[in-house]
Amino acid sequence: MSNQITVTNPATGEVLAQIPADSADTVNAKLKAGHEAFKKFSKTTAYERAALLEKWAELILANKQELAEIMTKENGKPLPESLGEAAYTASYLTWYAEEAKRLYGRTIPAATSSKRLLVTQQGIGLVAAITPWNFPAAMMTRKAGPALAAGCTFIVKPAEDTPLTMIRLVELAHEAGIPKDVVQIVNGKGSEIGPLFTGSDYVRKITFTGSTPVGKLLIQQSAETVKGVSMELGGHAPFIICEDADIDYAVTQALASKFRNAGQTCVCANRFLVHESVVAEFSEKFAKAAAALKVGNGMDAGVEVGPVINKKGFDKIVEQIEDAKAKGATVLAGGTTNHDVEKGYFFINPTVLGNVTHDMNIMQEETFGPVAPIVSFKTYEEAVEIANNTPFGLAAYFFTDNYKRGIFFQENLDFGILGWNDGLPSTAQAPFGGMKESGIGSEGGIEGIQPYLETKYLSIGNI
Ligand code: SIN
Repeated sequence: MSNQITVTNPATGEVLAQIPADSADTVNAKLKAGHEAFKKFSKTTAYERAALLEKWAELILANKQELAEIMTKENGKPLPESLGEAAYTASYLTWYAEEAKRLYGRTIPAATSSKRLLVTQQGIGLVAAITPWNFPAAMMTRKAGPALAAGCTFIVKPAEDTPLTMIRLVELAHEAGIPKDVVQIVNGKGSEIGPLFTGSDYVRKITFTGSTPVGKLLIQQSAETVKGVSMELGGHAPFIICEDADIDYAVTQALASKFRNAGQTCVCANRFLVHESVVAEFSEKFAKAAAALKVGNGMDAGVEVGPVINKKGFDKIVEQIEDAKAKGATVLAGGTTNHDVEKGYFFINPTVLGNVTHDMNIMQEETFGPVAPIVSFKTYEEAVEIANNTPFGLAAYFFTDNYKRGIFFQENLDFGILGWNDGLPSTAQAPFGGMKESGIGSEGGIEGIQPYLETKYLSIGNI
């Protein structure tokens, strides 16, 4: 296994840290320790676990400036967004601290009077998580919050681009009193650690946020030991604007949905579908607002869009812009970059494309960058058909003040997360998960704890 991970700042190319990658022996030893720790931790009361989660959340909030600065340096997102993520990270812990207390079982009426039938729920065991670089902190607690609430132990492998946030987050968990073997971190390449997680008999659950191809591989690998899998994978979100929508409001939501984290979220609006009667007005206003966004180092005051994470991400985005231009798209805003591949910094100016056609790569693939393609539609049936014409089904947005139209979209869009006049629907208390190739299972809300629970049925006879 490779033994060093170099962490760089995507806004400057500066090397932030070299951290050791864990050897296979270390990973396996930690998996065993997590399995052993489950025996004791699963016997704690829900109230004890809730208190630990609350304390961890409290420490995250008390240290939010430090955490946010680490996040901005290794991920590139503007500091206010990182501060927002710190609060979002804590919110999963406080929400699941409460949910721990509501893991009810049930009794079932038996067919004979001499029997009693009981159903209880208990933690599944050691959970192994692989988390992404786009939300280096929140995607961890979205998994660890419910896992610990259920009485599971937890081991996480953060993305190689952003391990520093996770190292601090895990330290804070231990400072909060969570035993060292109950929450553990391992560092290294996904391709090396993934098979150790999936192949281990100690791990009872794999939870992953990342790309669909990697998710498919983890599902295949987990089959060997029949592990439960939760997968939060890629998206290709449509953002539909009807002729009755409040266009100025829709523009504010489009900016938030598209350019948050430089367009690098799984739920980012990826395809703007605008009714033909308002496409000119929306395009003009949206392009003007996108061009006015301040791009730069996320540590600098007033910056609204930071760099994209690395060269690989940068190249894919630029390729999509060039492909669209070559096939006839018009650049309404941006379309330009400010980068230095040698030094390693990667900025793409917020880009809006008009005259987009469905054969362009940008209409077929997730972008994961600050580029917004706009196409027009004539009928709402056509908008739904375009929207659903993808293997992905994570998030979709629609803007209309007409309730019949809203219900039509709610019922016909094949996506797990819907925003009706809302560009930012994610929140700890609601389920977040995709349909089709966007994933398996939901995180957040009451649904988010189920994957970490095992159902046990007891039949008592001779009463
Ligand atoms: C993601 O990109 O996977 C998470 C976005 C969110 O929680 O809103």
